[in-house]
Amino acid sequence: RLDVTECYQGISFCGHLHTQESLQYATNFQFQDTDTLIVTYPKSGTTWMQQIVSLVSSHGDATRVQTEPNWSRAPWLEQYYFCDLLKVQQGPRLITTHLPYHLLASALQGSKAKVIYVARNPKDVAVSYYHFHKMANFLPDPGTFEEFLNAFLDGTVHFGSWFSHVKGWTNNANNVKNFLYITYEEMWQDLRGSVEKVSRFLRIPLQDQELAAAEKHCCFSSMQGNSMVNYTLIPQEIMDHSKGKFMRKGKIGDWKNMFSEEQSRLFDAVLRTQLSESSLTFVWE
Ligand code: PPS
Repeated sequence: RLDVTECYQGISFCGHLHTQESLQYATNFQFQDTDTLIVTYPKSGTTWMQQIVSLVSSHGDATRVQTEPNWSRAPWLEQYYFCDLLKVQQGPRLITTHLPYHLLASALQGSKAKVIYVARNPKDVAVSYYHFHKMANFLPDPGTFEEFLNAFLDGTVHFGSWFSHVKGWTNNANNVKNFLYITYEEMWQDLRGSVEKVSRFLRIPLQDQELAAAEKHCCFSSMQGNSMVNYTLIPQEIMDHSKGKFMRKGKIGDWKNMFSEEQSRLFDAVLRTQLSESSLTFVWE
């Protein structure tokens, strides 16, 4: 069985990729000021941002994104193979994490590492996460969409509550020296502008043609056909590609094809309550 669960500080993680030691190592990680850390709740645009940062760093040269898988270019801090990958990484370190803020707060304290937080409409996150559970054999069977949605709203899915994740990171944005907040929706509506925004944040200015090249290799159709980011390299017994695609739809507002009116109302009510003490305002379809 691949879908064993590892519990760490009250949050569940998939045991196929995480151990108590790897999670403890992550929470005590020594960041360097030259590190870039991509932070997301799962299914919020992680792979997309990994691609954008890689392409900005290479000034639009696609060689690396076409020859090295995303999980090696921008390894996940909390996964057990992180240390081994970090040792062989070239250039400034690009690290990814799905961990909530409170588990990294002390590790990041005083660090000048650049942190990019990507958020996505939680209704689309729930739908994307549900479909991913169906194809990823290392995740628990999600049951019906209704059942999965309830678990998502309760925060009992892997990586915990979406609400806590977004609140934790955005409420503490001022405690992180270099912090960029961006949404999946913004990247979707203005990819060129988003790549530029990332390049300004990383202080890697790009020429117009470099920007155009970067944009070309991080659009959905290009990434869908790139085996270094579409997860088709993962064996069938780990990700069942007959049950779905990792690069599934890449759309905004797909939740409307899945949610009933009642589910949407319930979700809105939970969202209002959960974000009532947060200054966050989202403009999502
Ligand atoms: S994971 O498993 O947490 O790393 O997944 P993550 O990469 O965060 O999210 C996967 C969803 O992002 C979509 N995606 C994109 N959308 C638009 N443009 C680009 N370039 C892109 N790359 C990835 C991907 O299709 C998943 O969303 P859904 O809604 O399931 O299609």
